[in-house]
Amino acid sequence: AFAASPVSISIDAGKPGPVINKNVYGQFAENLGTGIYGGMWVGPKSSIPNTGGWRNDVVGALKQLHVPLVRWPGGCFADTYHWRDGVGPQDKRPSNVNGGKVDAINAVGTHEFFDLIDMLGADAYVNGNVGTGTVQEMSDWVEYMTADGGSPLARLRARNGHAKPFKVAYFGIGNEMWGCGGNIRPDYYANLYSNYETFLRAPKDNKPKIIASGGDITWTEVLSRELKGRTSGISIHQYTIAGATWETKGAALGFKENEWISTLANTLKMDQIIKDHLAVLDKNDPEKKIGLMIDEWGTWYADADASNSALYQQNSLRDALVAALSFHIFHAHAKRIPMTTIAQMVNVLQAMILTDKEKMVLTPTYYAFQMYVPFQDARTVPLAIKDNTSYTLGATTIPGVSATAARAKDGKLYLALVNTDPHQAVDVAVDVAGTKVKGAAGKVLTSAAMDAHNTFQNPQAIKPVPFSARAAGGKLSIKMPAKAVMVVALEE
Ligand code: AHR
Repeated sequence: AFAASPVSISIDAGKPGPVINKNVYGQFAENLGTGIYGGMWVGPKSSIPNTGGWRNDVVGALKQLHVPLVRWPGGCFADTYHWRDGVGPQDKRPSNVNGGKVDAINAVGTHEFFDLIDMLGADAYVNGNVGTGTVQEMSDWVEYMTADGGSPLARLRARNGHAKPFKVAYFGIGNEMWGCGGNIRPDYYANLYSNYETFLRAPKDNKPKIIASGGDITWTEVLSRELKGRTSGISIHQYTIAGATWETKGAALGFKENEWISTLANTLKMDQIIKDHLAVLDKNDPEKKIGLMIDEWGTWYADADASNSALYQQNSLRDALVAALSFHIFHAHAKRIPMTTIAQMVNVLQAMILTDKEKMVLTPTYYAFQMYVPFQDARTVPLAIKDNTSYTLGATTIPGVSATAARAKDGKLYLALVNTDPHQAVDVAVDVAGTKVKGAAGKVLTSAAMDAHNTFQNPQAIKPVPFSARAAGGKLSIKMPAKAVMVVALEE
């Protein structure tokens, strides 16, 4: 069924807004379950084709996403990770136990992480250990990675195979300090941060941007007040659940429509959360020097908890809509959000890729990231939606259509659309001020089932298909299917 009247979208391409930093499309790889070991790293001797231990199939697929940034090694794992355990000959490295359950062999340490970063052409976001580490240990790690001269740690790095310094784009001081990072309070963390940050020394031309690990609004209040001039950004984490509480968060598949709408409604809460944090930043940092980094976001379903601490879950069309709606929110706040990293890249939470031994499938979330590649480093343009549809179930109502537009680096104007309604298709009339749009071409991702997903038996069950539309009588009308994500380049 089609909505009775069209939704109108007006784009003003003559009034360019802020650039969407490509790092808004960042990824997160933590040593959890098979997120790294098995899912990405199999070791150089594996029968699974690999380059220096990293799976060729997984790295090849990630390259298609133009992954701009990878956060590593955690997460909660960061606050138990000792970097010296992960350098030097692999067979001499001690094994490690993560959260008492996951046996980590420390094969993936600093050098291996940077091999991955190089293969992907991405930037590195390294997260340091406050919880069980020391100021000295963190200071040494930053020196080990970035020093270029004859410092003993630079020499050790060279002996371990990398004479040239590594480039660390971002360095995080601890993770979730209100919880797994140490269960401490924000004012105490602010002091700790200053202490740690003082000793993070790097050459002038290779200085990482230092990130403070935040929490709720109280944390942003304290950190933005206390750490001015000492931090490039404050991180927050925001996960999307289907249910009303963490205990009733809902399953990844087989859900009913009430959990379709609640998941999307919960995703949209991100906008207000960002606004609340930005209001505090605007008050305490009117010069806008501190960014808001959403370095963990995405869906978290009950499946992930039920299995073990590995946080493996399936991923459906619903997750693609969660990703796309989140992108639209990040674009709207492009000025103040220079970076986000979804949790996580492979086999953990809202993953791009799932693996089972030598098999690999791409998830609907993977396809959402792929469709939105043109938005990396694109310049936002104002967009207004008139006569939007709304989608209601029970007591919940959310907007039917969500849209964002930007001028990409290839010079083209891109429009992305989401239709949240699982039943009703909609006609979207698009006009661009000052030009007559001739047509639109791109991709659409949709399916008959709300929980359509790819499996190892049926890896192509859901994937984007080409879409195009021609303008008639000077008007462009896009037929947007129900429960769909679409990205098109407009022909001006
Ligand atoms: O992403 C999984 C976990 O969720 C991270 O380790 C932690 O920071 C968060 O609680």
